[in-house]
Amino acid sequence: MAVALRVSNLSKRFETDQGEVHAVEDVTFDVESGAFFTLLGPSGCGKSTTLRCIAGLERPDEGEITLEGAVLVSGRGGEWMPPHRRPMGMVFQSYAIWPHMNVFDNVAFPLKQGPRKFSGAEVRERVLRSLALVHLDGLEKRPAPQLSGGQQQRLALARALVNEPKALLLDEPLSNLDAKLREEMRNELKQLTSSLGITTLFVTHDQLEALTLSDQVAVMDGGRLIQYGPPREIYESPRNRFAAEFIGTANFFEGKVSAPAEAGGTAVVETAQGALRCVTSEALAQGAPVAVAVRPENVALLKERPPQDDDVNVLAGSLTSVVFLGSTLDCEAEAEGAVVKASAHPGADLRAGDPVILAFAASDSRVVPFGAVGQGG
Ligand SMILES: Nc1ncnc2c1ncn2[C@@H]1O[C@H](COP(=O)(O)OP(=O)(O)OP(=O)(O)O)[C@@H](O)[C@H]1O
Ligand SMILES: [Mg+2]
Repeated sequence: MAVALRVSNLSKRFETDQGEVHAVEDVTFDVESGAFFTLLGPSGCGKSTTLRCIAGLERPDEGEITLEGAVLVSGRGGEWMPPHRRPMGMVFQSYAIWPHMNVFDNVAFPLKQGPRKFSGAEVRERVLRSLALVHLDGLEKRPAPQLSGGQQQRLALARALVNEPKALLLDEPLSNLDAKLREEMRNELKQLTSSLGITTLFVTHDQLEALTLSDQVAVMDGGRLIQYGPPREIYESPRNRFAAEFIGTANFFEGKVSAPAEAGGTAVVETAQGALRCVTSEALAQGAPVAVAVRPENVALLKERPPQDDDVNVLAGSLTSVVFLGSTLDCEAEAEGAVVKASAHPGADLRAGDPVILAFAASDSRVVPFGAVGQGG
């Protein structure tokens, strides 16, 4: 696969009242053409600054960024392509749609800003095509503020795609949505970007989002890029303690797909802990090696087995540790050969040594596809 986006030795510092902030420090990575590449890390680690340098909304102090061989920026005072000439679409966390415009005009806006001139008919055709991609056809005349949160998010995506960009830059585009909608949009986003085959750079602080959506994940901490590679590599061979702990706050059950599923569907994965049902944002084939990931807060600790329900995974075990953290009880259990983390209500009657039933919904169980191994840096 050819490299689409190349970021080399990127550094960006900001002057503040408290002195100089090293927002991005010597960051280097390649994104292959058509790949879904995610920058993952905690708040303040430099994800947005990296993305903004790529989009041309910040000028880096050092480094070079190229897209399909064309230099976007090179060093301080070197080459510089202004943002509106860069063949990229961007979606911000806040969507940044224009409230005084209707849906059509919001999407048409970049066509009037870009380097190419379009006729009225071309604008109309492109806008309608873009709206159809995100399932907003028919809403062209609606004032933008009269859209729901999910529709505004789609509108931002349509606007980012209307110029048929070579790369899509997404800065936490799902974080303003409620949990259910986020889930839906995450699946839609994955399907849209893979069907378009567009190179996508996605920013999130959510490790499960990163692991389930991405071909490559780059872990950042304190302005530095710690490691990047396929999800499996990051999960199995974290380069340092930060990467290990940052990825390790979920439970992972490794196994093989025993009942395949389409993207957005429910699959069954055979693990050492038994068959687990889980949702997937990619189509999964029979026998594919995957991990089922579940967040601690989605694991319920019960005294008794719940009534049989196909959509709930159940494991039996015993509590090995219970730590009071004020707003939660941080628990660990041993269940059918796995160590499982769970967080419980602080008032729950739970003690280390107690037998316990762990229950987690299929809808809270995410598949981490462990397909491609061995690329990346
Ligand atoms: N314009 C600015 N002026 C001064 N400091 C800034 C500016 N923009 C970012 N920073 C600082 O640079 C660092 C990296 O910020 P950045 O926005 O890239 O983080 P982030 O990883 O996107 O965080 P979050 O997950 O909270 O969005 C932070 O310490 C931030 O305070
Ligand atoms: Mg940010």
